[in-house]
Formats: sequence, C-alpha cells, structure tokens
Amino acid sequence: MEEQKRILVVGSLNMDQVVQVPRLPVLGETLLGAGSLKLVPGGKGANQAVAMARLGGAVTMAGRVGRDPFGQQLLVALQAAGVSTELVAIDEEEASGTAFIFLVEQDNAIIVAAGANGSLGRDAGHLTRIEEALAQASALVLQLEIPLATVEHLITAARAAAVPVVLNAAPAQHLRPDLLRQVELLIVNEHEAQALVTALGMLSASTVTSAETREPAAKDVLTQARALALRLHEHGVATVVVTLGAAGALLVTRGDQPGAGPLSLYEPAPRVQVTDTTAAGDCFVGALTVALLEGQTPAQALRFAVYASALKVTRFGAQSGLPSRAEVMAFLA
Ligand code: ADP
Ligand code: NA
Repeated sequence: MEEQKRILVVGSLNMDQVVQVPRLPVLGETLLGAGSLKLVPGGKGANQAVAMARLGGAVTMAGRVGRDPFGQQLLVALQAAGVSTELVAIDEEEASGTAFIFLVEQDNAIIVAAGANGSLGRDAGHLTRIEEALAQASALVLQLEIPLATVEHLITAARAAAVPVVLNAAPAQHLRPDLLRQVELLIVNEHEAQALVTALGMLSASTVTSAETREPAAKDVLTQARALALRLHEHGVATVVVTLGAAGALLVTRGDQPGAGPLSLYEPAPRVQVTDTTAAGDCFVGALTVALLEGQTPAQALRFAVYASALKVTRFGAQSGLPSRAEVMAFLA
C-alpha cells in the first residue's frame, strides 16, 4: 500500500519572546513593558506546520534549531501538535531562531534573530533528505525566513518531482521571476504583493501605491489588491491570495470555464475582538492549504482560511493561539 502523502513544510522555527508595551521606544530610550516576558513557540514555518496539523493535515516539518533549550521546546511544540519532526536538524554552532515581539495595542513590531534558520540548506546531507521527502509529499509549503537560495533550490526540486509549491512570500524578499512562476499557490499580504509586483516591473510605481490601512477594505484597497493579484496570476502563478488584515482576503485563480478569464473571489473577515495578530497570516496559509488539498472549492477554502485566522487573532501567542478544526467549523456554522 502506498504511504499516505504528507504536507512538507520547510521553514523557520523561532522562540517568540513577547512583551506588551504602550508604544515602541525610540533609539536610546528604555521603556517599561507591562507584565512579564512570555515565551511562545513560533516562526513562520513552524506556525504553518502546527496550523495545518491542528486543522487535520498530515504534516512533516523540515528546519533547523540550535542545540539549546529553545530548540528542544520548539521540537516538543511541533510534536505535541502531531507534526513529524524527523527532518528538523540540530545545528551544533548556531542558536535557535528567536523573535522579539513587541505587542502595541492591536498591532505588533518584530525583530528576528535567524540563528540556525539562517543555515538551513547549507548542510548537503540534510538538504538531500528534504529532497527525498518530496517523493511522499502532497505539497511543499515555503516562506522566506530561511536562505533564499534554499527556497529557490527547493522550488526547482519540487517542480521536478511534480509536487505543487505553496509559497507564503513573507517577509518580502526578491525572488527570481522564473521561480515565482513555478509556484502553484502564492499567499502574500498587500505589502508583500506590492513588493513582488514592483520587482517584476509590471505595474508602474504610481499605480501600485496603496494606503497603509488596517480598516475594513475600502473599495480602492480591494481594487488595488485585485490588480496586484491579477498581475501575479498573469505572470504564471495559478492561484494568488492577497490577505488584507481585518478586511479579509482576496483570491485570484484560473476560471473554471474554458476560455473564460481568471476568477476573482473576496471574503470579508468576521468582526472579532483582537487580542494578538501574531501568526494570523500563518494560520491563514495553513488553513487555505489544508482546505484546498482536501478538495474544497476556492470559495470554500478562502472562507475556511479567513474564519480560521480571525479566530487566531482573538487569542494570545503564535502557536498557542492556533485554532483546531472543530473550533473553526463551529465558528463557520
Ligand atoms: P499578515 O499578518 O501576514 O500581514 P494579515 O494581517 O493580512 O497577514 O492577516 C492574515 C489574515 O488573518 C487576514 O486575511 C484575515 O483573514 C485574518 N485577520 C488578520 N487580522 C484580523 C482582524 N483584525 N480581524 C479579523 N481577521 C483578521
Ligand atoms: Na503573512
């Protein structure tokens, strides 16, 4: 019998060190935060792996942590969620990735010290084992918190193995246009979408200037997001999603009628009480990927992802705040 296919996530693992502050300090200033430091397992790669496992996906995580207590805690968190960690290597030199997260009212500011994440792919033996796992993968899920060269190498390897690539192009980095075209499902926020389109040189700078808004989508925000998504779709990405924070998300994919134009869908977010937006994007990526892989229509999958991530923002912490499948189903009902 063929082994069950698994979602392979290759990406970052970070220990999030979280502190609540009234505002960000200016250079040279010391500010007293509220309450004590909270340590929460995070990192875009690990968050997405845990999000998918909680939502019913069979997930294998590949990454790199240091030989330190944070590394152990990050592995335990993945395992507790049911994620296979046999492809998470221990780096003997670098510390585990760490993120310093400052929660300011409804938003956050983050500094990441990449540590061991920054050497993912430099060990040829580890990279080969990751490539071999592609044979058993239903999809490869990538973000941009590991070396770009590794991401580019794996996109090529996945294509050669006919494994669809899901890319959350965050944080924004310059990706080779020919590799971007190989991505099956691209998920970005409005700023990342704009950065990719600007790098492709497909929209003039004046048309891509967008308002920095966290409010529910004004018509021009939607129009702008749709224009960016369409450009990326025309470039060759089958399905493009632009997330819009409290305004929900927009999806552009191939139309289902032969000869018809691309299909554009928009799902507004439900209004929720915001506690912590950390990992909202990661929850979205995990939920959308799981839903599409299990055969939900793009419209159903988009709604599932918007509701799952809205639930996430009501709770504290990256991985600690990720919802279960039952919780999302109850919220959708
Ligand atoms: P990122 O954190 O990567 O910038 P977004 O801010 O766009 O991503 O958030 C990702 C998704 O999380 C959104 O598409 C939305 O579905 C959900 N979300 C984020 N913020 C809120 C919010 N304040 N209320 C409801 N849903 C939210
Ligand atoms: Na994101």
